[in-house]
Amino acid sequence: MKINPIVISLGGSLIVPEKINWKFLKEFRKLIVSNIKKGEKFIIVTGGGGTAREYQNAASKVTKLTDDDRDWIGIHTTRLNAHLIKTIFREYAHPRINKNPRTKEDLGVHFEKGEGIMVAAGWRPGWSTDYVATILAERLGAKKIINLSNIKYVYDKDPKKYRNAKKIKEINWADFRKIVGNKWDPGMNMPFDPIASKMAEKLGLEVFIAEGKNLKNLANILDDKKSIGTIIR
Ligand code: UTP
Repeated sequence: MKINPIVISLGGSLIVPEKINWKFLKEFRKLIVSNIKKGEKFIIVTGGGGTAREYQNAASKVTKLTDDDRDWIGIHTTRLNAHLIKTIFREYAHPRINKNPRTKEDLGVHFEKGEGIMVAAGWRPGWSTDYVATILAERLGAKKIINLSNIKYVYDKDPKKYRNAKKIKEINWADFRKIVGNKWDPGMNMPFDPIASKMAEKLGLEVFIAEGKNLKNLANILDDKKSIGTIIR
């Protein structure tokens, strides 16, 4: 089933910077609902944010965590956040959260009854929800992923470490992949994760990286108007 939805990878840092940012969620809901009313369909993939980090840190203070442990805790926090998003979009979202972007059963039920939103969460260790968003984009025929987090632009190097880091407005996949590398480390904080980037390059997807809390900007992105952020293609 190809329905050309817009995929939004909603960084957990927007849902739960520290505590749940319900004011952001209220405004985000308004914007998405107004676009559904115009006929758009959305896939919203939720990250773990502060909840992931709080649980991972707590567990690591008590015992030594493996990479798998860390990822699984992260996955469950993305699922909790997915449930929150599904709940606030109750009238528009399919009630079942997609927890496995590869199986037909998990995909088939979505959008069948004309729903406007499919909510998806983390799947397996070894990557982030960016990868889930990429697989879903392929399977449901989306050409574009809007990746919302707390960064305004991609930089050529870490702007927290290097004062001369340059912001990038447009970049191709080959150059972007030189920045993020090839390997996933649990807890990694990259504009778009390396495993997802590899697949997105192969698929020829366009990924828009933007600061999620600027909802006016998100509205412009959705309307194909001039907006702030980095386009990778
Ligand atoms: P994300 O990294 O996707 O959420 O998942 P985040 O940290 O909230 O994202 P941003 O930075 O705000 O955009 C949280 C953690 O869950 C695990 C990883 O450890 C990841 O860091 N995870 C998530 C997986 O292992 N597999 C998945 O499919 C998804």
